[in-house]
Amino acid sequence: MLHSAVINVMVKAARRAARSLKRDLGEIENLQVSLKGPANFVTAADKRAEEMLYTDLTKARPGYGFIGEEGGTREGADKSHTWIVDPLDGTTNFLHGIPQFAISIGLQREGTMIAGVIYNPANDELYIAERGKGSFLNDKRLRVAGRKKLNEAVIACGLPHIGRGDLELAARELGAMQSRVAGLRRFGAASLDLAFVAAGRLDGYWERNLQPWDMAAGIIILREAGGIVSGVTGQDDAMTTGDILCGNEFIHAELLKVLKAA
Ligand code: IPD
Ligand code: CA
Ligand code: CA
Repeated sequence: MLHSAVINVMVKAARRAARSLKRDLGEIENLQVSLKGPANFVTAADKRAEEMLYTDLTKARPGYGFIGEEGGTREGADKSHTWIVDPLDGTTNFLHGIPQFAISIGLQREGTMIAGVIYNPANDELYIAERGKGSFLNDKRLRVAGRKKLNEAVIACGLPHIGRGDLELAARELGAMQSRVAGLRRFGAASLDLAFVAAGRLDGYWERNLQPWDMAAGIIILREAGGIVSGVTGQDDAMTTGDILCGNEFIHAELLKVLKAA
């Protein structure tokens, strides 16, 4: 399938960084059994992947700004374009050898997401989207699921963990949601949660306290698949608040009601 030049740049960069992550995953499986554990190794793997992405993306598009989880913000001469990159989303999964992690690359122009690529090296699933051109999973066009009722819906969420998030609020929201949906899931890689909603595997997803690089690529992939994305109040912008809520138009509205009442 033919894609634009910028998508080709993003996919090529993601695949190269993915080869590095895959090699590191193999090493982690060995370290898992050692007493020292693989935590430091994972941090190094993460940084290595980000530097590869930075090198490839800035070589192809010199001057674009770059925001990465590991290296922070690196300004470029071109103030209108910015890459927003998570070199390894789902670190905890990666650390435990759970094959639910991804490289996420978003491209923003004048504050609007215009392209996104999410790649899971473990199962070779590649999600791409470009503004106005639809979203694809390994070249198959994506469309959000059509379910309208919450009691038939499978919904993903995030969970606060040690040192992060409001546990009481999360407990209230989870309790309210659990009693209304067909299934609740916590997969542990925000980019893939969004991609799964785009692919119609999940009907909706919400999570609080995310960072722009967790969501950038996923937001455009989901919107181009016909999904609705907002903050958890319905009015706010997820990229600004870090709280995200999504689904098709019906499920999005239903989730909003449940969260408001929680
Ligand atoms: C995390 C994952 C996870 C979400 C966390 C994120 P990381 O990103 O997306 O699903 O619940 O809030 O920080 O740290 O693995 O890149
Ligand atoms: Ca992340
Ligand atoms: Ca990360």
